[in-house]
Amino acid sequence: MNDAIPPARAPLRARAPGKAILFGEHAVVFGRTAVVLALELGTEVAIDEGAPGGESTYNGSAEAARSNPYLQEALRSHSAGHALALNVRSDIPKASGLGSSAAFTAALMAGLLSLQGGSSRARLAEESFRTERGAQGVGSPVDTSAAVAGGVLTVGHQGLPGATALWSLPAVDGGPPWSVGRVPDPGWTWVVGYTGVPKDTATVVRRVGERVKRPDGERLLDEIAHVAVEGVEALRAKDRAAVGRAMKENQRLLVDLGISHPRLEELLASIDRYALGAKITGAGGGGSVVALPREGEEVLVGRAISHAGGVPFLVRVAPSGAALEA
Ligand code: MEV
Repeated sequence: MNDAIPPARAPLRARAPGKAILFGEHAVVFGRTAVVLALELGTEVAIDEGAPGGESTYNGSAEAARSNPYLQEALRSHSAGHALALNVRSDIPKASGLGSSAAFTAALMAGLLSLQGGSSRARLAEESFRTERGAQGVGSPVDTSAAVAGGVLTVGHQGLPGATALWSLPAVDGGPPWSVGRVPDPGWTWVVGYTGVPKDTATVVRRVGERVKRPDGERLLDEIAHVAVEGVEALRAKDRAAVGRAMKENQRLLVDLGISHPRLEELLASIDRYALGAKITGAGGGGSVVALPREGEEVLVGRAISHAGGVPFLVRVAPSGAALEA
């Protein structure tokens, strides 16, 4: 959906979806185009006025508010010094690679912008990216774009054939602007498996930065970008087998980038016979895998992940992004 964020008064509630990157994580940080699914797992932020003259709170705790970098970054530019009382509920595990911080940031920004008189969706996308990037110090607008726009998206310095342009976002570090496009959702059920090993995006992104300085680094990034182009074609054609093949190829390249982890390998091995394709999703080094099951084998993939000690989620694409709730 592409509707605006309406004006509202406190108390209000906003919700935004998490995400799984289907193709192109890490390469997107170097300007290649990634493909991301917004997931039907989300974060809800309830915002009320805080005690006059007091501090903002997160689930009743001022300390939790103080130590949340995303919240601090958002409050710096958008609370006009007023204390806010936030209550947050999420069904996205933290540090799982499934976009919990972007969903929190986008829901929070949707709430704060509506308190300030409302916003276009493109502005919400820009403010959410700026806030997440300010808190993390590294990274692309992939996660916040999924949280704001919903659906299946391409995000990179260039659009991709077959994607409809949604908006562009200015770079926050002086580089070229980002372009966000939409690809039709083929309507499948995906299975995501969390290893239980929290990942640290900034550390893994920096490590990949070192890896791509090696002589074959640019070629590796270009190969990942090429898989994303093929992946979009396959999604548009609703060709499950071809999407699965592209996922497997992307996984091979991610291993070469050095972002795998023994627990990720175990989960991927456990689902190999039921999935058309599966790969690490997000930063890696822990976090989660995403799988496209053979049709009708969704539950078998979920069960295999569970038997291998992971946490499975059977999920469809969330068609809409961040929105106020009634
Ligand atoms: C994190 O979800 C995806 C990465 O590509 C980092 C980024 O794009 O910000 C690893």
